[in-house]
Amino acid sequence: MKKTSTQKTNKKKKEADVLTKGNPWVYSETVKDHFLHPRNFMKAGEEEKFQYNGVGMIGSPVCGDVMKFWILVDPKTEKIKDARWRTFGCASAIASTSVLSEMILRNGGMTLEKARKITPNDIIKELGGLPDIKYHCSVLGDKALRDAINDYYRRTGQYDKIEPEGSRVIDKVLKITEKDIEKAVLDGARTLEEVQEKTKVGLGDPTCIPLVEELIRFYREKYNL
Ligand code: FES
Repeated sequence: MKKTSTQKTNKKKKEADVLTKGNPWVYSETVKDHFLHPRNFMKAGEEEKFQYNGVGMIGSPVCGDVMKFWILVDPKTEKIKDARWRTFGCASAIASTSVLSEMILRNGGMTLEKARKITPNDIIKELGGLPDIKYHCSVLGDKALRDAINDYYRRTGQYDKIEPEGSRVIDKVLKITEKDIEKAVLDGARTLEEVQEKTKVGLGDPTCIPLVEELIRFYREKYNL
């Protein structure tokens, strides 16, 4: 059977990618392609029109860059039907998240359970390698995606499926974390009622309310709000 031009281009990219392996400073052809032509990027002005039912945001403790990820999940199959992302990160973060967005939308969309298991190594493999020093850039996309998946489960009341990561859980019934409270304060909530309006914290486990009030005071002072 004759090879199509896309198959030929992919073969060439893979051959070129093999050459980048072991060289700590060379970007693969796939990385360059995704950086120059990012897939599923949330363009300016598109945010208001894009339909989603899960959104996540993550900041990198290494470089301070931020990643936001939106997903549209089919509630019947729990497959991801559409996705967008946006970052202030570098070329590696752009390429990693672009390829990740392709991976989760392939073949009619990946299930949430499968998508949350994607690791940075899966993404790096798909990219044909990434310089070691850029590893932290590749974790931004998948972390923001997992945050969006948790957000979907929260919006649909599936609290048992939420898997908070790297943050202390404050409301143990609704799985609301310190990070969720910080996010609510940064989004404009200033009082317990306003934070509850955004997160429902304390409605599952009322014993955590004094701690929530303490955290609101702490984040307001921290960010001068
Ligand atoms: S240096 Fe910040 S995301 Fe790459």
